Amino acid sequence: MQLKGHSHSRLDFASGPNGNFVIKRIQDTGKMVSQAKKQMYFKNIISSDPRMALGFDVPEVVGCCDHCITMRYYNGLSIIDFIEQSSKKQLDNIVHNLFEFIKWEIQKSPIAKIDEVQIYSKFGSAIPPIDGYIPIGICHGDLTLSNMLFCDKKIILLDFIDCFIETPIQDIAKLLQEVNLMWSLHFFSGHVDTTKVKIGYNYLKKEIVRMLPMFGVELEYINYFYFTSLVRILPYVKTKEIYDLIIGEINDNSDFADSWRVNTLSWCKAKVPNDAPLWKFNAN
Ligand SMILES: Nc1ncnc2c1ncn2[C@@H]1O[C@H](COP(=O)(O)OP(=O)(O)OP(=O)(O)O)[C@@H](O)[C@H]1O
Ligand SMILES: [Mg+2]
Repeated sequence: MQLKGHSHSRLDFASGPNGNFVIKRIQDTGKMVSQAKKQMYFKNIISSDPRMALGFDVPEVVGCCDHCITMRYYNGLSIIDFIEQSSKKQLDNIVHNLFEFIKWEIQKSPIAKIDEVQIYSKFGSAIPPIDGYIPIGICHGDLTLSNMLFCDKKIILLDFIDCFIETPIQDIAKLLQEVNLMWSLHFFSGHVDTTKVKIGYNYLKKEIVRMLPMFGVELEYINYFYFTSLVRILPYVKTKEIYDLIIGEINDNSDFADSWRVNTLSWCKAKVPNDAPLWKFNAN
């Protein structure tokens, strides 16, 4: 049985005497090893912290090579199915757990100076650098709700990825991307009560935006990582619908709308994989 992946990966389900497993394959060699290492690291630190282990789990990695990772299968719901089936109390529980998770990451990340060279080596002059001090230490890297499964009272975290700066602010930015753009809903192909799901999303958005000041991180930094993470997705976007969605969000962000037009699109164009259509970069 094949599971549905979102980007360039292929996921297969395998069953054996020792349980059920997922085999995830990607062509981009090397990426899987760093993904597996990060997943094992988080599995370890979450399961050894009773407070975190109450609300979260991470699939155990049982095998890994350059382009393939084998991990335990979890029978959980996608965020879309979860929102459709859940009560307000269950949504509150998700928000509470995500809040605790980010707070926990921030506690584990000492305040350190942003390395402008690191930003420059990632984006060149495409994105203006930012200076200052932020928590730097750990982050999931792609904390959208599509990289989670929802089982009873636990959230299963999937699809860890290295980030150019390992800061929990990156995870806040990804959560904002999810709720502001109803991200996972755009990739959901099953039948669902869209009205109910959108009401659920609006509730999650209200609650997540309400908790932002409680992280003790200046909004300027959250906005910066929000903006950079939207830009980083653009080269890999496959449809005009998603392209327009992201461009619309960037243009609404008045802090960056002007500066990004100058250089950022050419940076995106240079990053586009060979097989991707270029039409999307001519739209604006
Ligand atoms: N261990 C697992 N147990 C159950 N389902 C899983 C597991 N790992 C992945 N899945 C299912 O497969 C989907 C895609 O997984 P994942 O997010 O890792 O891949 P992807 O987004 O396609 O990967 P990438 O962005 O790295 O190319 C998940 O949303 C989930 O439904
Ligand atoms: Mg994913």
